[in-house]
Amino acid sequence: MRHDQEPPGLHPLLAGRFSPSRFDPSATVDDRSLGLLLEAARWAPSAGNSQPWGFFTSRPGEPEHERVVPHLAPSSARWAADAGLLVVTLTRRHVGDTELLYSEFADYDLGQAIAHMTVQAQAMGLAVHQFRAFDLEGLTKELRPNPGWAIVSMIAVGKAAGEAPLGRDRRSVADLLSAPWSPSE
Ligand SMILES: Cc1cc2nc3c(=O)[nH]c(=O)nc-3n(C[C@H](O)[C@H](O)[C@H](O)COP(=O)(O)O)c2cc1C
Repeated sequence: MRHDQEPPGLHPLLAGRFSPSRFDPSATVDDRSLGLLLEAARWAPSAGNSQPWGFFTSRPGEPEHERVVPHLAPSSARWAADAGLLVVTLTRRHVGDTELLYSEFADYDLGQAIAHMTVQAQAMGLAVHQFRAFDLEGLTKELRPNPGWAIVSMIAVGKAAGEAPLGRDRRSVADLLSAPWSPSE
């Protein structure tokens, strides 16, 4: 793992992205921005155009926010509750309550939709921090998605308070190309 700076030539939307560990609690995400973030996810590619994603959105002050915030883990509650928007991400893994896969790429496709949403957010001056630090079982009981649907992650979206950390850890490009075939460590 190397402490790295983003290389010249990387698109500024990618180079400038980071997961903030603090959000400005006074910065709201308005309806138009929320709509554009969902449009960005909507237009992502997916296996067979299955579009297996779903979202539960909530903003501070909305009743939905009070349904989600109690399920944050202590580690994420420190910053996620301040974000202007919290999104619970869901994927449709199975057909109804059967074991039949809806799409073997359901999680892959959801991740891609979130990547689109992340870049759209960055273009609008908003930052995204994805996280798994929440009570999955408790949140599932609270939101009760339909059979076949699973909560995967949450994302906090808002104005970052503070700068990106200097020198972030990344595997090298050479490692990306060789690791699958390297002798195991
Ligand atoms: C699926 C997923 C789950 C994550 N879970 C957490 C989490 O529970 N808590 C946290 O602080 N960050 C979480 N992260 C953020 C990563 O730690 C972060 O993206 C990574 O360290 C790289 O930092 P960067 O996004 O600033 O480049 C998660 C990211 C992803 C994609």
